[in-house]
Amino acid sequence: MDGLIKGVELWKTYKLDVTEVHALRGLNITVDKGEFVSIMGPSGSGKSTLLNMIGCLDTPTKGELYIGGKKTSDMSDKELTRMRAEEIGFIFQTFNLLPALSVRDNVEFPMRNLPGKEKPKKTKRIKRAEEALEQVGLGDRMNYLPTKLSGGERQRVAIARALVNHPQFILADEPTGNLDSDASANIIKVLHEVNSEGNTVIMVTHDKETTKDTRILRIRDGVIQD
Ligand SMILES: Nc1ncnc2c1ncn2[C@@H]1O[C@H](COP(=O)(O)OP(=O)(O)OP(=O)(O)O)[C@@H](O)[C@H]1O
Ligand SMILES: [Mg+2]
Repeated sequence: MDGLIKGVELWKTYKLDVTEVHALRGLNITVDKGEFVSIMGPSGSGKSTLLNMIGCLDTPTKGELYIGGKKTSDMSDKELTRMRAEEIGFIFQTFNLLPALSVRDNVEFPMRNLPGKEKPKKTKRIKRAEEALEQVGLGDRMNYLPTKLSGGERQRVAIARALVNHPQFILADEPTGNLDSDASANIIKVLHEVNSEGNTVIMVTHDKETTKDTRILRIRDGVIQD
């Protein structure tokens, strides 16, 4: 198995005036379909940089990234945009919900951006949003505005939104970073449910508690340690 995601000798160098910051220094990573991987490491070690790269939000300075066997450096901007929209679900520490939209509309929203022939009709989009919300236990909060929800509930909306396009994998950057321990445990439980249904999950976390029953990768100074 060659891996759903494979990064080979990934470098990311940021140039600031005359100095260079090497956020990734020849990092290798393979994630197979169906895995739940936790990425841990000190602040500034390159965790978010790696996740953004896997999410095609950023490109490596050097090295190759393969997703589903396809080299991302060979893809056009259009292909990368399509991949972000259809194949990848993102979850962030700060939820990033749209405050003026209801919970239902927040989850329906990403489907509006699907390319023409793949975009479901409005009734279908709403049905899929409602199914995703049921899946994360928020069937009774569909009409709420995000501001009326608890932090844990907001993050569950974000998980439903990440799932709604049936992505190949889910990327979560410190999804429990703003939550207390009960809400955090609940979010991890939902992510494990999502994973047991066949979704690949890659999560950055600082909290050892959240990594139980996952494969832990430790990153330090831009490389993964053995
Ligand atoms: N856009 C950028 N421009 C310049 N330097 C950057 C940029 N993004 C990240 N860096 C630097 O790259 C290094 C890795 O940053 P990254 O955000 O990946 O760390 P992290 O492991 O996610 O840390 P944290 O746990 O604090 O979120 C840091 O030294 C950071 O200052
Ligand atoms: Mg980070």
